[in-house]
Amino acid sequence: MIQKPVLPKNWVAVGFSQDLEKGQINIVIIEELELVIWRDHKGQAHAWDNRCPHRGTRLSLGFVRGNQLACLYHGWQFGGDGQCVYTPSIPDSTPPKSLKAHTHRCVEFLGLIWVAPLDFEHKDIRGLESHVRDSMDFQPVRSMIIYCSAENIFNRLASIPFPPSRIMSRRLRSISNMRLIRETESVFLWEDDENRTLASYQFREIQPDFVEFNCESEGTADVLLFALQKIDSQKTALHLLLAPENWSSDPISLKLAYAQWSKKLRNQLEQVF
Ligand code: FES
Repeated sequence: MIQKPVLPKNWVAVGFSQDLEKGQINIVIIEELELVIWRDHKGQAHAWDNRCPHRGTRLSLGFVRGNQLACLYHGWQFGGDGQCVYTPSIPDSTPPKSLKAHTHRCVEFLGLIWVAPLDFEHKDIRGLESHVRDSMDFQPVRSMIIYCSAENIFNRLASIPFPPSRIMSRRLRSISNMRLIRETESVFLWEDDENRTLASYQFREIQPDFVEFNCESEGTADVLLFALQKIDSQKTALHLLLAPENWSSDPISLKLAYAQWSKKLRNQLEQVF
């Protein structure tokens, strides 16, 4: 018998807050479970199973009406708690309580949208705050799909050091001709014909599928956060946040430089497995 996919008992990041505007609807997949993510006109984000409780139509085909999500097929409308509040074919009736979309917890933290099952015991994601350096200014770099399992990505990430921001600020266009030499288990030397920069790295699991990668280089400290979203056994979405010690005078270019580097990261992760 085929088992219905269910959400893991964990907070899972499914994308950046900035990519879901008011009135917008997106589809995300966590461990083969398809969800509809939508933002109401008050600005609240919601995560539900992508199935209308009436006849199973994908709710992502519908549209946001104020603070309700309307199904495309028969136009039933559901409030933020998933309760059906309006059925156009019988407009004067009050829909029964049993007419409800299957909802999940959905919160925003660090510029990411996070989803967890309603019965997940750690319902307050703010508990993560004490594990993340809150003094740092984290900014989204990019989300990308990697054709590799989350387990393999997790095992491999720590061995792929990221360039320190002091190098990236100097070379906003490319680091492709820099050599990377491993000095010890956690210390690397970045060098080209003109410069040599030592960097030491630390990798820390904050919670399952959410890891922090620290880089200290010549008195500056940069942090990358990797949030992994398992799509299925072969595919993972990786959401990448950056907090350099100092945003350069051109922070947009710095973010673009790391986004460029992340393509190389994706290639390295996909090559190995
Ligand atoms: S299938 Fe959604 S309203 Fe009928």
